[in-house]
Amino acid sequence: MRAAVYNYGGALNVVGNFPAPKRGEKELLVKVAACSVNPVDVKLRKAKLPSAIFPYPKVTCSDGSGAVIQAPPNSKFKPGDLIYWMGLPLAKYGSAADITTIPEESADFVKHTDIISAAALPLVVNTAWQALQKSMPLAGKNILIQAGSGGVGTAAIQIAVAHGAHVTTTASQANFELCKSLGAERVVDYKAERFEDSAPPGGYDCVLNTVVGDYDARSLKVVKQGGHFSQVLRNVADLRELLMGAYCKFLAGTGRLGAHSLVAVRPRADLGLQQASNLMAEGKMKPVVNTVLPLSQINEAHNMVEKGVGRGKVVVKMVENVEQLLEGVAK
Ligand SMILES: NC(=O)c1ccc[n+]([C@@H]2O[C@H](COP(=O)([O-])OP(=O)(O)OC[C@H]3O[C@@H](n4cnc5c(N)ncnc54)[C@H](OP(=O)(O)O)[C@@H]3O)[C@@H](O)[C@H]2O)c1
Repeated sequence: MRAAVYNYGGALNVVGNFPAPKRGEKELLVKVAACSVNPVDVKLRKAKLPSAIFPYPKVTCSDGSGAVIQAPPNSKFKPGDLIYWMGLPLAKYGSAADITTIPEESADFVKHTDIISAAALPLVVNTAWQALQKSMPLAGKNILIQAGSGGVGTAAIQIAVAHGAHVTTTASQANFELCKSLGAERVVDYKAERFEDSAPPGGYDCVLNTVVGDYDARSLKVVKQGGHFSQVLRNVADLRELLMGAYCKFLAGTGRLGAHSLVAVRPRADLGLQQASNLMAEGKMKPVVNTVLPLSQINEAHNMVEKGVGRGKVVVKMVENVEQLLEGVAK
């Protein structure tokens, strides 16, 4: 099968003869329609992790969409079902291939969007959902979402707005309209203005941060007394992030914070993806796709994400449409 693979060192190549995986217990064997590239896929590829602990050669990308080829006995999925999933980022068989295997619990049915765009959603909706969970119910709350035009940001804005929150977000001027179209009430141009200067008196009920540097410390300052600070873990090797996590846990113990989250996203469909499917059915959520590229341009897709495309997701397609996807898939 075709697959985009890398070895130690991180050079990414599309090969035409990679052996297809076999389905494990509680796994689905899937024909892939599309995958999306997340920052973690680029970070893992460039991390030069030792081969003793990393499954080289590794097929890149964990988010995907496609059609079930085989399912476990008594599974809710059957051959021919259209699904999308966030797989395990560390698994050998990623989604940038014609065929992959995924844990059954990571997948949900694709019903309310096209099969290519569906690949843009799983990791970011799981992350956003898990980051906002401790603030629920969200109705009437003032929430600041950093980096609203990014993958996690676009998902978080839509989830928060769908649950009745008032959302402020940060973005470049060029992405103001995008953020507003997703339901953000206010967008702060972080290049021209400090978000602290326009925080509500007393602060926000919840602040969700995905930005590196001093953003954790600055974001914490605008969380109101007893509010929720949600950090998405960006770099496990960054001591500042981990220390801030420990400090916020302490603050949650003192009552300064009502809740704290340090999110390392879990690849379970019941923790974000199913909720996103429900919101899509109600017309309250949509995938935000920046670009769709063919598998032969997977290096360009990784490069775009590494530079921070800043407007939704980069998707890589294995097929053109559902008809082509279902060719050869027995129902
Ligand atoms: N731990 C986990 O489980 C987990 C899960 C998901 C993501 N993450 C991490 O979270 C981070 C974000 O992920 P993502 O997928 O959302 O990334 P992304 O799609 O690449 O988003 C990048 C966005 O950041 C914005 N940005 C850059 N600097 C900013 C600043 N100073 N203030 C406000 N916005 C800024 C850009 O907005 P403009 O273009 O508008 O300037 C761009 O839209 C990454 O480091 C990723 O690895 C971790």
